[in-house]
Amino acid sequence: MAKQHWKGGALLAPVPAVMVSCGNGDIDNIITIGWTGICSTHPPKLYISVRPERFSYSLIKESGEFCVNIPSSEMVRALDWCGVRSGKDCDKFKEMKLTKEDSFAVSCKSIAECPMTLECRVDKIIPLGSHDMFIADIVAVAVDEEIIDDKGRLMLEKADMLAYLHGDYFTLGKKIGDFGFSVRKKKTVAKRRRK
Ligand SMILES: Cc1cc2nc3c(=O)[nH]c(=O)nc-3n(C[C@H](O)[C@H](O)[C@H](O)COP(=O)(O)O)c2cc1C
Repeated sequence: MAKQHWKGGALLAPVPAVMVSCGNGDIDNIITIGWTGICSTHPPKLYISVRPERFSYSLIKESGEFCVNIPSSEMVRALDWCGVRSGKDCDKFKEMKLTKEDSFAVSCKSIAECPMTLECRVDKIIPLGSHDMFIADIVAVAVDEEIIDDKGRLMLEKADMLAYLHGDYFTLGKKIGDFGFSVRKKKTVAKRRRK
């Protein structure tokens, strides 16, 4: 495999693209965020990186709260739109016909149409350069009952989530493994032998 060497760049992919809702009680806004991820399991924490010039930046900084709403692939137009229009000029909930939903643990609204919402309270803000990283505690999670099976297990594959690859949106493909499958004993082989 012949490789070219480029200078360092923000080229990690795929990443999620999420709709972060935020507000101060008077204004409810949505900002599309690609620079996000889990950064601790216990306690559960995630980060979002936001440019200080975004309208949402001060809403999040002042309230100390935001919601990471994970859209389904059929919401891709709203996802993109909220990432190219500013809440200082329009009401994104209204323009995209999205429903404001009361959150469980934070005061800002969630997006009812999204199958999963992570409600977050800001812990630390780390200035990094172009973006400030908001590290936040995930204080509650709202999940659509349609993606929970009768044993209470989360079936995220049914949420029809999407991925963001360097400017392009993609649906997800087929499942090709699961955590630890590479070292797991193959039960199916043993079962087959027993027959
Ligand atoms: C797919 C996508 C990903 C984005 N990721 C980020 C991001 O991680 N951080 C950020 O500050 N802006 C990001 N943006 C840009 C903001 O969403 C955009 O500037 C938005 O209009 C800001 O809204 P606001 O002015 O209402 O806060 C992204 C936009 C798109 C379309």
